[in-house]
Amino acid sequence: MKEHLFLLSRDCLSLARAEVERSLETKGFLKKNKLIISVNDSSVNDSSVNDSSNNHLSIVDLSNLSLGYTREVSEILFSEKELKLLLGAKNYDWGSLIKNSYSIEFEKGIFDEETKKVFFKIVWDSLNKLKKPVVDLKKADTKIKLYSDGEKIFVTKNLWTNSEKFEERKAHNRLYNHPTALHPKLARAMINLAGSSSKIKKIADPFCGSGGILIEGALMNKKMIGIDIDKVQIIRAKENLKSLNLKSEVSLGDALDFCEEVDAIISDLPYGKNSKVNNIDNTLRNFFNKITTCTKILVIGSEEKMNLPRLIGFEWVIVEEFSIYIHKTMTKKIFVLELVNKNN
Ligand SMILES: C[S@@+](CC[C@H](N)C(=O)[O-])C[C@H]1O[C@@H](n2cnc3c(N)ncnc32)[C@H](O)[C@@H]1O
Repeated sequence: MKEHLFLLSRDCLSLARAEVERSLETKGFLKKNKLIISVNDSSVNDSSVNDSSNNHLSIVDLSNLSLGYTREVSEILFSEKELKLLLGAKNYDWGSLIKNSYSIEFEKGIFDEETKKVFFKIVWDSLNKLKKPVVDLKKADTKIKLYSDGEKIFVTKNLWTNSEKFEERKAHNRLYNHPTALHPKLARAMINLAGSSSKIKKIADPFCGSGGILIEGALMNKKMIGIDIDKVQIIRAKENLKSLNLKSEVSLGDALDFCEEVDAIISDLPYGKNSKVNNIDNTLRNFFNKITTCTKILVIGSEEKMNLPRLIGFEWVIVEEFSIYIHKTMTKKIFVLELVNKNN
């Protein structure tokens, strides 16, 4: 059995956790912002590990991770109570783990400088059989990271660091901005909430606006279909996609006429005066009723005061619900819905 530590963004822990658990189809154990996921060695091969000395089995293809709210993923080498950490470090076989350059990083606020120094020295001294161990703080082959969940210290080997440039893709940096545009990190998480990447390949956003969800989906190599009733928004979406060299089907139309079969519908619903809809409640009631023939999974963003449970009818069931603070006057709700008879 192996354990992985997912270091979650603190922005919205429940959403960060669900993003990992739903996209990897597994359950973990959350303490502070660390999600620990145990895996049997019989699961899928970890293709990110190409060092034959480290030929272990892991949970997913980590080279394919595309999470929004996870900052890092590590393999747990060992864990100890703080008092026993140095003893644990002395007993660990660092020589089998570190073959070339390495670095050691401590989560902010854990340990005093003296303990860190002793830890560094234990590792360095145990590598005396290596001809020339190199400490490389920028691009080490083996990045050792230490985290605390308040009870235990986790000594880990970093496997994945989130290098997505979500801030650069924020709407105000896009060619065409719009006040209702979603933060790219949230759009990414909504796509992952739909389910595992091997199952969710074709996605529609029938209220696509300036294309925030289409962009993140296209970056994840999904087949994306976008529709909006506003021709200016369609131009914005097309130009935004083009400026990033991304492909998606985008067309002018009414979400109520959408009838193509897709793996998931992921959409940020119209709200407020930007929505250009006269009777939003009626439009949405019809929408939820009609799309039962197109998909079995919905991931929906809505403004906080929208009473979604009242609009979805009897065919959909809410399986997850999150509130995310966006700014002073806006808290968003994210819902994951499944078709009641989704196995039929
Ligand atoms: C909240 S915005 C979507 C924002 C989008 N996620 C983004 O990142 O830009 C909702 C969009 O729904 C569109 N809309 C409203 N009623 C519609 C309808 N009946 N069919 C299709 N689009 C509609 C609006 O024009 C608006 O662009």
